[in-house]
Amino acid sequence: MQFKFSPTWLAGLAAVSLLVWACGPTETEPTSMRALEASDFGSVDGQTVALFTLTNDSGAKVGIIEYGGIVVSLEVPDRDGNVGDVVLGYDTLDAYVADTPYFGAITGRYANRIAKGRFEIDGTAYELPVNNEPNSLHGGIKGFDKVIWKGTPTASGDGVEMVYVSADGEEGYPGELSSKVTYTWTDDNELQIDYEATTDKPTVINLTNHSYFNLKDGGASPILDHEMMINAGMYTPVDATSIPTGEIASLDGTPLDFRTATAIGARIGDDHEQIGFGAGYDHNYVLNRDDDALSLAATVYDPHSGRAMDVLTEEPGVQFYSGNFLDGHHVGKGGVAYQHRSGLCLETQHYPDSPNQPDFPSTVLRPDETYSTSTVYRFYAR
Ligand code: BGC
Repeated sequence: MQFKFSPTWLAGLAAVSLLVWACGPTETEPTSMRALEASDFGSVDGQTVALFTLTNDSGAKVGIIEYGGIVVSLEVPDRDGNVGDVVLGYDTLDAYVADTPYFGAITGRYANRIAKGRFEIDGTAYELPVNNEPNSLHGGIKGFDKVIWKGTPTASGDGVEMVYVSADGEEGYPGELSSKVTYTWTDDNELQIDYEATTDKPTVINLTNHSYFNLKDGGASPILDHEMMINAGMYTPVDATSIPTGEIASLDGTPLDFRTATAIGARIGDDHEQIGFGAGYDHNYVLNRDDDALSLAATVYDPHSGRAMDVLTEEPGVQFYSGNFLDGHHVGKGGVAYQHRSGLCLETQHYPDSPNQPDFPSTVLRPDETYSTSTVYRFYAR
């Protein structure tokens, strides 16, 4: 499959050109590099997987595949205008299918952990596969990161809509769940992700994107020099299996407090029980917010390249994971072996294990409701 999508802005550009022509000869017209291309990224289980490449007017690009809705590349300029790929991942579909720590993927139906793979809704008990002893992680054995989504360019031409229908009982979760994840790549280098879902039976849902970012070199070196700011004064401390204790605790005086931008490596080796449990940062931050509008969750800055990323979300939390379990065995794009802490994740979400935590915001979705949430990853340089 190889086609070039002609978005509606082309018509707009034609109209502007006509206007320019009508007004007589002028200087060179502004040109836009805006494009949306679909190509073949391989096949799995006999099904072809398309790669959508979205290019914005300045030439910055995002690549997204139908397998797992994975963001396979994200190319943005540094402070000198040099474009570089800032996400970890693979060159081939086979590599994603063989072994991935959720590089770039949509994670669901329930991102993060559910204690012992068990929960109840309205008195009915459900059991999920335990794929991260002793808990269920990121939707189970074949979660939303490993299924094929159906991708379609959006009408506006600056995005792709991914659709997946998860059967009732899939990975133990009740209800047929119809999900739509729309990726939009704006001319301001913002990747907006809009999630939507409906169900035919009460179920639980928590969708996120699991991109690993390295703003310096896409994963060739550690992220420890990256400066992190997280807009949260509280977090959900965990037990030794990374399940929240149920407490919403203050970050005051802890090495997990990122209200003031701080290098990730500055305190990651501190002797603190929570850092020990996470083998580094692997915690859910309770975002400071007045309402549920899109608001700033975190800013990451790489002082070497000058690249920065803001994360904005409507979600109540963000999991900051500092790539503690990367150990060099995933050999990614361009043959780079991703070493310990060579990528970081900022997974916007509801809190881990919410189905078993009555005091956390609810993650139950009922048939008369629509799940709808948005997150934006915005890139710039300084
Ligand atoms: C979790 C980590 C886990 C990783 C898997 C993150 O979302 O918080 O504990 O190891 O996903 O790659």
